Amino acid sequence: MDTIHFIDLFAGIGGFRYAIQNASNKLEVPIKCVFSSEIDKECQRAYQENFGELPKGDITQIVGIPDHDILLAGFPCQPFSIIGNRKGFEDTRGTLFFEIARILAAKKPTAFVLENVKLLVGHNKGKTIKRIIETLEDLGYHTTYKVLNALDFGLPQKRERVFIVGFRKPSIFNWPQKKVQMKSLNDILEMEVPKQYYVSAPIRKKRLSQKLPTKELTIWHENKSGHISVYPFSCALRAGASYNYLLVNGKRRLTSREMLRLQGFPESFKLISSYTQTRKQAGNSLAVPVAQAIIERVFQACGWI
Ligand SMILES: C[S@@+](CC[C@H](N)C(=O)[O-])C[C@H]1O[C@@H](n2cnc3c(N)ncnc32)[C@H](O)[C@@H]1O
Repeated sequence: MDTIHFIDLFAGIGGFRYAIQNASNKLEVPIKCVFSSEIDKECQRAYQENFGELPKGDITQIVGIPDHDILLAGFPCQPFSIIGNRKGFEDTRGTLFFEIARILAAKKPTAFVLENVKLLVGHNKGKTIKRIIETLEDLGYHTTYKVLNALDFGLPQKRERVFIVGFRKPSIFNWPQKKVQMKSLNDILEMEVPKQYYVSAPIRKKRLSQKLPTKELTIWHENKSGHISVYPFSCALRAGASYNYLLVNGKRRLTSREMLRLQGFPESFKLISSYTQTRKQAGNSLAVPVAQAIIERVFQACGWI
């Protein structure tokens, strides 16, 4: 079997890279990363430390991307999400999608997998996703998309994201359906956590004014209007959210390792960035098992297994 070459765009700290590595190990499909790009210096450093390769910087400035079989990209979501300014393609960051289109047009890989926030699907009354799909189809790709939730793939994190998959040739691709038993928070949370993670008395009191303490492990989520919900799983990690919007048992913040576990990163991932940076990186990253399940189906659809 020939080695499958892939590129990792908007690589962050390598969520997609772990996903394809896991799929490759499981299905015994040899793979090689031939190009990666990430603009953020701290992500670049973490990526290099963990994958032994320094990603190239700003994708808009890069020419001469090598030939590859599969393109992976979790492109920036700010222009489409409610957290951003809702301008979509008018926002210059929105044009980063067109960097993907540019590369697909030039290199014509066999397949691609893209990831973005769920809100992309409803953005601008569905016109934004329609425009994305049309662009990809105009480039000759048979394209499909679906919103998947990390909770259905074994992670105790409610994280709904849209995945867009495309193939140069008409291919039989089925979205993963299998519901995997959710890991318990017991498997994710650390038992001994330094004092600095615990919130102040006024914040604790505010939480307790809305909810009763729980004996079992729970994560307390505060929404934008200050309403608290208590679940046996985490709500979506977010890069730019307040420090206390997710609190274990309403008492303490998640540690860096816990956040990465919630995204399905392996224990071997070396944590070299500050807490603030890791929080941002984990919030921007992707749920590895979800992407892995999709990539396994893509390998199948491409006839690589
Ligand atoms: C949604 S995150 C993707 C994270 C990645 N999937 C992961 O697993 O960590 C988008 C990433 O795109 C990067 N980015 C934004 N603009 C870029 C550009 N012009 N060139 C390269 N990377 C860029 C951001 O720094 C961010 O890390």
